[in-house]
Amino acid sequence: MDPYLCSLLAGRHLGPAPEPGERMPGQGIARVVEAPSGGPVRPGNRVVLDCGWTRWLTQPADGLQPLKLPPDIPPQTALGILGMPGLTAWAGLHRMATVKSGEVVAVSSASGTVGAAVIALARAAGCTTVGISSAGKLDYVQNELGAHFVLDRGQPLPEQLKNLKVPRIDVYFDNAGGAVLEAMLSHLALNARVVLCGMMAQYEQIERPPGPNLGPVIGARASLHGLVVYDHFDAMPTFLEQAVPLYQAGRLHCHETVFAGLAQAPEALCNLLGGTSHGRVLVRLEPSF
Ligand SMILES: NC(=O)c1ccc[n+]([C@@H]2O[C@H](COP(=O)([O-])OP(=O)(O)OC[C@H]3O[C@@H](n4cnc5c(N)ncnc54)[C@H](OP(=O)(O)O)[C@@H]3O)[C@@H](O)[C@H]2O)c1
Repeated sequence: MDPYLCSLLAGRHLGPAPEPGERMPGQGIARVVEAPSGGPVRPGNRVVLDCGWTRWLTQPADGLQPLKLPPDIPPQTALGILGMPGLTAWAGLHRMATVKSGEVVAVSSASGTVGAAVIALARAAGCTTVGISSAGKLDYVQNELGAHFVLDRGQPLPEQLKNLKVPRIDVYFDNAGGAVLEAMLSHLALNARVVLCGMMAQYEQIERPPGPNLGPVIGARASLHGLVVYDHFDAMPTFLEQAVPLYQAGRLHCHETVFAGLAQAPEALCNLLGGTSHGRVLVRLEPSF
């Protein structure tokens, strides 16, 4: 389950919204049942693909690749921390913000998959990390994900930022938009970089709210970067080279909320958007998978 599905349904994402009766899109891991001999995949292989919400799918074998993760790594991580959301974090930090050791990196929606990866990768790069999350998950973000400092997005942020025991923010990785983005823009260091990745606070709003005041961006001589992970899939091998050892060392992980059966998919998406789920939201179709 990915948050973009909500803006997709509202017609505000990059691609066209599915029509009533069409399959909901989404990435999944599937097992190959039949495949032409001599092709890139064999029956029994697991593949990651844009299969949408379905139990069965027929599609050309060209372009499919067997899932290649070390056997000690659970396959579903390829949909999360070691897949597209993890790559999103990596691309934002390393390609757009060119993060450097000693810098302060803050991330919103910190308990989510992208947020968890930002914290782990920023720590691995020698940065001090600040996670912005909801009240019930602050302990998880600090003590399990390893953020050096946490901020509660449910309480006024300007006050919390004033009391934060770090200098201003060098890299702000925004997954939230709205009031969180506005508050963080006022706490940027000189030459800060802001990666605009997502808008969790705004996906469900019918009308676009008035934008944040961008004045502080000017004062900080900051750079804003719009991140679209589709532009960075070429970096997946480079990302995995760094991320797999971090995962195996227990330094990169994300909680999973797993729903059972396709009929639970709408509820899974609503939980994600309502902020009640915890970490990566997955729907498992095959109990034995
Ligand atoms: N630009 C790209 O190419 C790209 C690629 C992938 C993902 N994204 C974006 O990255 C963001 C995070 O994605 P994800 O895969 O990490 O999702 P996820 O694992 O489902 O996590 C979503 C998290 O968002 C937070 N949240 C929920 N409601 C919120 C609200 N009203 N305001 C602020 N935060 C809220 C919650 O964390 P807390 O309780 O910790 O706040 C929740 O756990 C989304 O905005 C998504 O669209 C963008």
